[in-house]
Amino acid sequence: MPELEGRNVLVTGASRGIGRAIARRFAAEGAKVVLSASRLGAHGDLQGTLEEAAADILAAGGKAAAMAADLSDAEARSDLVERAAAAFGPIDVLVNNAAGSAMKLPSEATTEERRFMFDINVNAPVDLAQQAIPGMKARGGGWILNISSATATQPALPYPDSKLAALVIGPYGASKAALDRYTVALAHELAEHDIFVNALAPVAIVLTQGADYVRHIAQRRPDMVEPVEMMVEAALELCSARHVGRVTYSRDIVHAVGRAVRSLDGREVLGDAFLEADVEATA
Ligand SMILES: NC(=O)c1ccc[n+]([C@@H]2O[C@H](COP(=O)([O-])OP(=O)(O)OC[C@H]3O[C@@H](n4cnc5c(N)ncnc54)[C@H](OP(=O)(O)O)[C@@H]3O)[C@@H](O)[C@H]2O)c1
Repeated sequence: MPELEGRNVLVTGASRGIGRAIARRFAAEGAKVVLSASRLGAHGDLQGTLEEAAADILAAGGKAAAMAADLSDAEARSDLVERAAAAFGPIDVLVNNAAGSAMKLPSEATTEERRFMFDINVNAPVDLAQQAIPGMKARGGGWILNISSATATQPALPYPDSKLAALVIGPYGASKAALDRYTVALAHELAEHDIFVNALAPVAIVLTQGADYVRHIAQRRPDMVEPVEMMVEAALELCSARHVGRVTYSRDIVHAVGRAVRSLDGREVLGDAFLEADVEATA
């Protein structure tokens, strides 16, 4: 039995990387998925578009719709959940995956840059959750999964690259720490409504285009890299009624519950051999 049969899911940041992979697997598990990103087509030198991500799911026999909204813009994101509901019906599962990183030193990040980071990484997920919660309550439950980062927590010291640590743990990590705390608060508030709110972070690095700036670390430290399928498996586990108020790492939750990691089409068990990631791969 597919795990998300009949559920309506909204995944932000689904044009590439982790969000695109979550959308693909959730659709393979029977969900009707609305994929969102800042625009439908190509921009800059980034590979993969929202339209292509939705088309991949449709080509595999799944249900998908693409919807653009710039999440750094409060106005543009103000009706995203409502627009998404128009595609397949009210949203049962919200995956707040999109994020921004201005990569600025904490002593130099301007008010504008800090505002941008907190807007897309904290205010946007909270706004979308607030848009989705009334409908979830009315239907007797739902799931909100916030994608976080290990940069939200205290790193092991001494950190191998202090400048990089300052860049990622600074404004970006601070925003993810705020998201983690908000996740737990929402979980406490909403548990009585059977709305399961959790946060999930990669153990360290998933080699997406967004993580290109740490590729040199991945090459030196392959133990810090995980395949995108691990994150997706963990996301699926957290969109069950088994967890609430968790702020967890992908490998930790997958190993704790003894789940087999599967391919994005859900058909193949990749198993423990797959835990050794290919550090050249880009999701
Ligand atoms: N990869 C890692 O190693 C890693 C580690 C820790 C945490 N994370 C977290 O995992 C999540 C996904 O990361 P990723 O590496 O997959 O990212 P990515 O490859 O950079 O993809 C980011 C996604 O967010 C969308 N996005 C960016 N700005 C947006 C905006 N203003 N409005 C709407 N959508 C926007 C992008 O689409 P468009 O550009 O087309 O709008 C894209 O779909 C993020 O929350 C990130 O913080 C990742």
